[in-house]
Amino acid sequence: MKIGVLTSGGDAPGMNAAIRAVVRTGISMGMKVVGIQRGFEGLLAAEIVDMTSHSVSDVINRGGTLLLTARSKEMMTPEGQQRAADICKILSLDALVIIGGNGSFMGGLCLSRLGVNVIGVPATIDLDVDCSDYTIGFDTAINTGMEAISKIRDTSSSHERCSIVEVMGRDTGHIALWCSLTGGAEEALIPENHSNNETITEKENTAIDIDRLIREVVENRAHGKTHNLIIVAEGIGGSTKIAKEIEKVTGIETRATILGYLQRGGNPSAIDIMHASMMGFLAVNQIRDGGRNKIIVYRDGKHSAVDLEEGLAYKRPYDSWFYDVMKTLSI
Ligand code: F6P
Repeated sequence: MKIGVLTSGGDAPGMNAAIRAVVRTGISMGMKVVGIQRGFEGLLAAEIVDMTSHSVSDVINRGGTLLLTARSKEMMTPEGQQRAADICKILSLDALVIIGGNGSFMGGLCLSRLGVNVIGVPATIDLDVDCSDYTIGFDTAINTGMEAISKIRDTSSSHERCSIVEVMGRDTGHIALWCSLTGGAEEALIPENHSNNETITEKENTAIDIDRLIREVVENRAHGKTHNLIIVAEGIGGSTKIAKEIEKVTGIETRATILGYLQRGGNPSAIDIMHASMMGFLAVNQIRDGGRNKIIVYRDGKHSAVDLEEGLAYKRPYDSWFYDVMKTLSI
């Protein structure tokens, strides 16, 4: 058997450990393994490298992705998808392992409809592949976020300021929620709490109820807090404007820090290396056992495989419990 492996979309700590697992499991099962560089962009340009067990030496603990990654516009067109499927056939790939998030799996779904056997391994710091309870990279990202918040707390408390920390997460607030709970913040502004919400006021490009936020800051001071920590998800954005508005109305010195790509780098945590290793191993086992078009998932404490199309269609309902606990503990 011959299999290909690529990483696509935003890089995530643990991708290298997942590549290593796919390559070494494949080789140990007698398969030929090729790496495709720069995600779908590289597939379309046939940027292929033969992988040996040594190609993945000394990468288990490294962030980023040795295969490089990209977001491909061409892969969003039917012509690009057909060309990518044709290249997989020319390369005689029995299966293609895609390590990435929802956008990458959408590309994979298109390829599967054109006859390519696609196995997805969820890797994104955003934790937003809803069919899986875990996505590779999340743990490292939230630990980076928590460490940054802890440092900001020192200076925030020393100056008795209000600090706004913006964390990554385009469409979902998982990173913001975990960072707010583990960083001991008072509020997390997340997309889930602000879409279709009638109480939202549009003010200076921020889709949040700024008046309620300001009331909370003032009340917390009245209750004896000497500084404030508010986490904003990237999907809400506008941290600098929010900070200016709080300072203008309350007179409390307010500063915004946007963590940005800092959260996507760094050596993967043990949790990320563990999931990457298990998921990469399972992906190749699926191929050997005749599995077709799957996403490897972690659900209810176990790794398994679900149908690619069904997995992608699944939307996990938002549960406010995590947010409620964070709010309770921040009084
Ligand atoms: O990979 C997920 C993510 O980091 C999101 O949190 C963020 O919105 C997006 O990728 C940024 O993408 P890009 O690297 O293309 O700017």
